[in-house]
Amino acid sequence: MTSGAWRGIAAEDADEVTGSLAALLRRRARRLLFSLLRPQQARVTGTFVLIVTANLAALAGPWLVGVAIDRGIPPLLHGGDLVPLALYVAGFAAAVAVQAVASRAFIYSMGKLGETVVLELRQRLFLHFQRLPVSFHEHYTSGRVISRQVSDIDSISDLFDDGLDALVSAALSLILVGAGMLLLDWPLALVVLAGFVPLAWLTIWFRRESAAAYRRTRETIAQVIVHFVETFGGIRAVQAFRREQRNEEIFGSLNGSYAAASLRSSRVLAVYAPGITLVGNVATGVVLCYGGLRVIDGDIKVGVLATFLLYLGRFFDPLQDLSQFYNSFQSAAASLEKLSGVLEEPPAVPEPARPVPLPPRHGPSAQLEGREVRFEAVRFGYRDTAVLPGLDLTIPAGQTVALVGATGAGKTTVARLLARFYDPGQGRVRLDGVDLRDVPDQVLRQEVVLVTQENFLFTGSVADNIRLGRPDATQAEVEAAARAIGAGTFISALPGGYQADVGKRGGRLSAGQRQLVAFARAFLAAPAVLVLDEATSLLDIPSEQLVQGALRTILAGRTAMIIAHRLSTVEIADRVLVLSGGRVVEDGPPARLLASDGEYSALHADWRDSLA
Ligand SMILES: Nc1ncnc2c1ncn2[C@@H]1O[C@H](COP(=O)(O)OP(=O)(O)OP(=O)(O)O)[C@@H](O)[C@H]1O
Ligand SMILES: [Mg+2]
Repeated sequence: MTSGAWRGIAAEDADEVTGSLAALLRRRARRLLFSLLRPQQARVTGTFVLIVTANLAALAGPWLVGVAIDRGIPPLLHGGDLVPLALYVAGFAAAVAVQAVASRAFIYSMGKLGETVVLELRQRLFLHFQRLPVSFHEHYTSGRVISRQVSDIDSISDLFDDGLDALVSAALSLILVGAGMLLLDWPLALVVLAGFVPLAWLTIWFRRESAAAYRRTRETIAQVIVHFVETFGGIRAVQAFRREQRNEEIFGSLNGSYAAASLRSSRVLAVYAPGITLVGNVATGVVLCYGGLRVIDGDIKVGVLATFLLYLGRFFDPLQDLSQFYNSFQSAAASLEKLSGVLEEPPAVPEPARPVPLPPRHGPSAQLEGREVRFEAVRFGYRDTAVLPGLDLTIPAGQTVALVGATGAGKTTVARLLARFYDPGQGRVRLDGVDLRDVPDQVLRQEVVLVTQENFLFTGSVADNIRLGRPDATQAEVEAAARAIGAGTFISALPGGYQADVGKRGGRLSAGQRQLVAFARAFLAAPAVLVLDEATSLLDIPSEQLVQGALRTILAGRTAMIIAHRLSTVEIADRVLVLSGGRVVEDGPPARLLASDGEYSALHADWRDSLA
């Protein structure tokens, strides 16, 4: 990845972070969150009930202590009656037990909820990325795809693991404890609530500062990564030109600013957390003085004061926890925002809402029958380049056509439209009369197979890669397909034969061997329409002739479109189409076009000359 791209990410990520928690409230992020949580409604409700129970039990503890002081101890002191105190203590023990059990269940339930949501999100994201158009992936670098798939999902997962329970607990504590205090004694409660004034001020400051610090750390770490990628992506050049010293200096300074940014983040927290404790302690002092006076005046009992003092701890402490998790909320909110943005990108070729079934393949053997292909006034262009101004073309079922023309004429584009990697801007492409847009993807991939020059093989064995054509094929069928196109010999010679590992991206096979595997795959798939785009360009002459011979067998009865610059490949075609500027300029049997003095005969003459 280029450094420019990384800087782009840094800037983009930083911009989206400025909204901080407000980002969580943005519409599309919220929509995503709801859509993830909706199927989990029962668990969400259950989890909420558990946390409310835990908090009510936590609230009951201090209240029971107060009541025990006021109503349990006097009978014991004056009449030696232990029963009331014992009852209150038992109540206290029960409250503590309920709190412990409910908390444990809550944490587990929350973890489970998070796990389910994250699993679903990761799955959705992967499937969606896979379906997004190639044009999307051309500008959305793979580094960003990885960052969405890994770090953004992680930050949401972290939130569920340790942030969200703190948030929910803190919010509930504030509400319940606040309400409890107001019910117990409202003048004293108002004194405590006054503590919110400095607290609010402190929190506003903290949010602003920590958002800035967080942004700065993200920016600096992105720069560190840029430098890292550049250095090790070009390690040969670095060593060849003795650039280590300079790189070391640059890295040292970037690393230094990252450390400084992190330090700033810690400093902000170092003010906020003790600040909250201070407010809590001052509030305790004030409650003790004012409450003491009220006790002396006989307005409240000692137990109520004790309850208040115990409540105070629960009131301010959770806020401190919240500040610890502020960054994790912030990054989860930003992540959610980015993920929802990606998930709302429309896929290039949407699945049909109402699929139209293709008519059954007619002919002696369904396996061998082709389908009619028709382009009707197809206009198409990539973002700003118009490629096909209006293509009309009918290929009857079972015909093999060769599509030739100069580089950039639009041949590959025609092939991609036929395989529905893109949809036409205007007009339509039909398969046996059915618009490709009405054919489900699953069906289309069985009916139309495109073999290109870039034969991507997946990690696994040769047999696995051939079987991609038809996953339920037996080993014998796989081997028969390979032999049919002349790949049997080289595969048998590999160590391990059909089980030989092809390596990453098929790197252990030569380019020509990969092409043969791709052919075997296409042959096994037995599609109605086979499109070969420069599919034999990497083979040597003997292999090409072998494939050529095999193609006659494979293509019998199928509809085929062969695109090639080497015109030897074109000889097996029934019909040649010459494409120029996205239009068919010549159309006819090869022999007839060769006899006339049009573009095809000129192309053919050039090709002959190049062989001589
Ligand atoms: N992904 C893309 N984004 C933008 N423009 C594209 C893209 N792919 C092709 N083009 C443009 O569309 C035009 C037609 O390209 P196409 O690949 O269809 O030509 P071609 O006839 O297959 O050429 P070749 O013989 O070199 O394979 C070219 O001008 C090309 O620059
Ligand atoms: Mg091409």
